[in-house]
Amino acid sequence: MVEGAGHTAVLLPEVLAALNIRASGTYLDATFGRGGHAGAILEQLIADGRLLCLDRDATAIAQAKARWEGDSRVKIFLAPFSRLGACADAVEPGLKFDGILFDLGESSPQLDDPDRGFSFMRDGPLDMRMSQGEGVSAADVVNGASEAELIRIFREFGEERMAPRIARAIVADRKSRPFERTSQLAEMIARVARSRERHKHPATRVFQALRIHVNAELDELESALRAALDRLAPRGRLAVISFHSLEDRMVKQFMRRHATPDPVYAGLPDIPAHARPTLRLVGKSVEPESEETDRNPRARSARLRVAERLSPGIAA
Ligand SMILES: C[S@@+](CC[C@H](N)C(=O)[O-])C[C@H]1O[C@@H](n2cnc3c(N)ncnc32)[C@H](O)[C@@H]1O
Repeated sequence: MVEGAGHTAVLLPEVLAALNIRASGTYLDATFGRGGHAGAILEQLIADGRLLCLDRDATAIAQAKARWEGDSRVKIFLAPFSRLGACADAVEPGLKFDGILFDLGESSPQLDDPDRGFSFMRDGPLDMRMSQGEGVSAADVVNGASEAELIRIFREFGEERMAPRIARAIVADRKSRPFERTSQLAEMIARVARSRERHKHPATRVFQALRIHVNAELDELESALRAALDRLAPRGRLAVISFHSLEDRMVKQFMRRHATPDPVYAGLPDIPAHARPTLRLVGKSVEPESEETDRNPRARSARLRVAERLSPGIAA
């Protein structure tokens, strides 16, 4: 277990094995957080190895800079990971990676800080922006979106069955008092809706949905996966840890699609280069052992998927 200032890195040995680290290789940690994974990768690199670290959260990046500013192996960027190509080019035009890691979602410091507004367990401003102060906050959405739009967000990003009832109650309540605090929203949801899962707060799915919407998480991931594929060196490894089914489905489908020859050419002996797979799946998806989830309950829903970039001309 590696703890980086309040965040415990999930599936760490599995990630290190998945990335197949070469001491002089070039790696990208697209979700620095508190650097648990990044630190462990860096420990394996020698002087000509390279590690790029990205995060869209300014606090995370300030910590990365405080830790490694003087280390010539490390380059640090405050950026959404959909821009990983531009960050790579800023280091060296056309730079490719031997391994890219995405450890999706929020870090413990983000969740645990009431002022960031991610948690229905702690009262704070209804914010939820990972890039502090940029774009719209959760309060802007809850107070400004139409009832139909709220229903769509809660259904699409929270798979919330009671979306219409919750959206209707929000629209009725906000007329007299706009939603400003996480507790205000969580308590209102608990009044009008039940959770279908035992031990889950009724607001869990709505909070997840708002967070995904506010941070455009699925659009970010889709763009970033494409950019990552483009930036992987031959035999480079892509490792993605997701924490909910919407992300995991996207990662699984992306990896499968690129690991399968174009169906138009199925069964033919000679598949043209443009229709050949560009990825090879590496093993099955991996979930943490109970020993890890006992130590770190936040690892419970984690799932790691790994794929390897095929060299042009190598069959899957
Ligand atoms: C689960 S934490 C990563 C923890 C990290 N692996 C560690 O060991 O400390 C996820 C991090 O990814 C960042 N993040 C989430 N979505 C992002 C995006 N689209 N672009 C850049 N960073 C993102 C969050 O700000 C957060 O710091």
